[in-house]
Amino acid sequence: MRLHVADHPLIAHKLSVLRSKDTDSPTFRRLAEELVTLLAYEATRDVRVEPKQIQTPVTEMTGVAISSPRPLVVPILRAGLGMLEGMTRLIPTAEVGFLGMVRDEQTLEATTYAERLPDDLSGRQIFVLDPMLATGGTLAVAIQFLLDRGARDVVAVCLLAAPEGVRLIEHKFDARANVTIVTAALDERLDENGYIVPGLGDAGDRLYGVV
Ligand code: URA
Repeated sequence: MRLHVADHPLIAHKLSVLRSKDTDSPTFRRLAEELVTLLAYEATRDVRVEPKQIQTPVTEMTGVAISSPRPLVVPILRAGLGMLEGMTRLIPTAEVGFLGMVRDEQTLEATTYAERLPDDLSGRQIFVLDPMLATGGTLAVAIQFLLDRGARDVVAVCLLAAPEGVRLIEHKFDARANVTIVTAALDERLDENGYIVPGLGDAGDRLYGVV
């Protein structure tokens, strides 16, 4: 597993506004999208491209185009949906699949309750969207699910990560696994309720309101 903490003043600025408890839901949604677009730029650094002949107004040249099979973007429901627009804005030709994950409050085990993905992910580059990497349990199950279906590599895009979650992903997916986490910040720790500290609160609630 590789960890990439995006270090850019615009990212730090937008993240600070997201963290503030005074930021309302509409502003939070818009800023989360903008932040994801900036993270997407970092996350797609190794997206595969192939040569493509193009004709400029002046001459012919060899450019590049995103390779087939196209990358697949997979938001984890519900909060990952708030990151989808920001990601596909930068990479509009990507396909989109969905993973619904739920955690059993007794066993704390994450399971998949819904999935809409191609059966065969052989050779696919996958971008998983999950705003808060907290314990890492859900993300670990999601990544394993995608690798088991043949995914070639998986990049998880997270707004925030806790050291506990990063350690779990690192433990489950060693240096040989093609797994990368791209995040806007690595925070201090988890609190006793599993919230990231200093964090930004419950990402789903802040995006969509409490339901
Ligand atoms: N999920 C959230 O939405 N926020 C946290 O701080 C941790 C997990």
